[in-house]
Amino acid sequence: MTSAPKDEQTLLARIAELEQSVIDSAAQLKETASELEAFGAALSHDLRAPLRAIDGFCQLLLEPPYIEQLDPTGRDYLQRIHRAGKKLAQMMEDLLQLVRLGRSGVSAERVDLSRLAREILDGFQAAEPGRRAQTAVESGIVVVGDARLLRLALENLLGNAWKFTSKKDVADISVGRATDEGAAAIRVRDNGDGFDSQYADRLFRPFQRLHSESEFEGVGIGLAKVRRVMRVHGGRVWARALRGAGASFYFSLPVIDAPQAPSTDR
Ligand SMILES: Nc1ncnc2c1ncn2[C@@H]1O[C@H](COP(=O)(O)OP(=O)(O)O)[C@@H](O)[C@H]1O
Ligand SMILES: [Mg+2]
Repeated sequence: MTSAPKDEQTLLARIAELEQSVIDSAAQLKETASELEAFGAALSHDLRAPLRAIDGFCQLLLEPPYIEQLDPTGRDYLQRIHRAGKKLAQMMEDLLQLVRLGRSGVSAERVDLSRLAREILDGFQAAEPGRRAQTAVESGIVVVGDARLLRLALENLLGNAWKFTSKKDVADISVGRATDEGAAAIRVRDNGDGFDSQYADRLFRPFQRLHSESEFEGVGIGLAKVRRVMRVHGGRVWARALRGAGASFYFSLPVIDAPQAPSTDR
């Protein structure tokens, strides 16, 4: 018992140290957050004006009388500038959405993910009636979360499934409950191009893509948004895939209810 005060002192000193390090980390976080804020503001405003000028003047050059003064190579160059400008605008738009995501709060509503997924998939099929796709959505997957954000996440996951199966004769896409290494989750699975599982974690970072622009178009922000949506809900997302043999994306949200129900195939 006589050594207790000394132990106590050491303990108190350690607690004070830890407190200081928490304070330091919080200050650092605050600084990063305000830097991000400034970055977001620049994205939304300052960087857009010059891009609009590029787009506008390209458009003028692509019309008579200027377009006639260019030879085919010149026209090709001009079109490339125009496309690159549009791409940059899209990238900024997506980044801005990512930076803002969840900042205005996350609501807690009952969200029927099955219905949402069905709607999104039907929308894709309606937009490309020529594509042959088999889609299956397990019904009754109801979660508590922010409907708008969860829609955004599903649109991105299913959008990828739809895109990376576009070279298959028949796309096969399913959404349902699943477990992965013991973790209960919701799985979005496709029979598309897949990727090497060793890179699965990288894909959730902004601008990380495993497919070239010429193979499959894209910006590379979609999965970063999905990860953000899951994180602001206290959930997570991960992926499994094989190169050339389809991909599965799993996500888990803290509250999942509703009993197992038969799937609605289409
Ligand atoms: N369902 C999928 N099948 C195969 N690869 C995928 C799939 N989903 C995502 N990926 C890989 O992850 C990358 C990042 O995805 P994402 O952030 O949505 O960007 P984008 O769709 O704009 O390429 C993709 O470029 C692709 O390489
Ligand atoms: Mg995508």
